[in-house]
Amino acid sequence: MDKKIKIFNNTDELSEFLGNFWKQKIDELEENKYYSIALSGGNTPIKIFTYLSENFKYKIEWSKVKFFWGDERCVPPTDSDSNFKLAKDYLFDQVGIAETNIFRIKGESNPSGEAKDYSRIFEDNLHLENGNPIFDFILLGLGTDGHTASIFPHQIELFNSSDYCEVAEHPHTGQKRITITGNIINNAETVVIVAVGKNKAEKVYEILNKTELSSNYPAMLVEPKSGNLIWLLDEESAERL
Ligand code: 6PG
Repeated sequence: MDKKIKIFNNTDELSEFLGNFWKQKIDELEENKYYSIALSGGNTPIKIFTYLSENFKYKIEWSKVKFFWGDERCVPPTDSDSNFKLAKDYLFDQVGIAETNIFRIKGESNPSGEAKDYSRIFEDNLHLENGNPIFDFILLGLGTDGHTASIFPHQIELFNSSDYCEVAEHPHTGQKRITITGNIINNAETVVIVAVGKNKAEKVYEILNKTELSSNYPAMLVEPKSGNLIWLLDEESAERL
């Protein structure tokens, strides 16, 4: 798979690229079709969502987007750790996303029950190919340990689960997470991995150079069958390339 790697001077330029990518795809949609996007959590999306809210509020037909998540922390939607709250505060409330277009993971619910329920939401709201729910776009982050979504190195086997969603656990805090698996990630039309900042440079180098160690990193397993994998980096995270 030829990984497309784009290196930007800063997160604003990276966000401009992402905004224009979404705008083009959404403008190309047929009548009555939606563009399905799965969002990531963590800190990096804060700057991206802020930029999109300030610069793409009127450029993107947000009513044509269905929002989902690649993972969620098992906390209530009002919790500061909630990936839903992050997107709501920095994007949805700013650009005016209708509740009917938001399919959040219920972090407050029983984790294994919610993992099953959320898988059903994929089947009911995404187009299916050979029975597999297909996302148009999945946004993933990269942890300093090589994790992506909420699949951490100590549970890398979850990536190859036959289920669409699994319950995971943060290696240090023990926090329960609900995460999509490779079953969903590698069936998506486009997958973007965003990694910015010096602290990501080591894992970016190892994964993109397929070093020996990289086989331990879940992000290494991201290989969408469509061939559309794009790494969005800034100069700091790309400094070792
Ligand atoms: C989460 C994420 C996770 C995140 C990485 C990178 O819920 O934490 O979805 O996969 O993308 O941990 O996080 P930062 O952007 O904070 O470095």
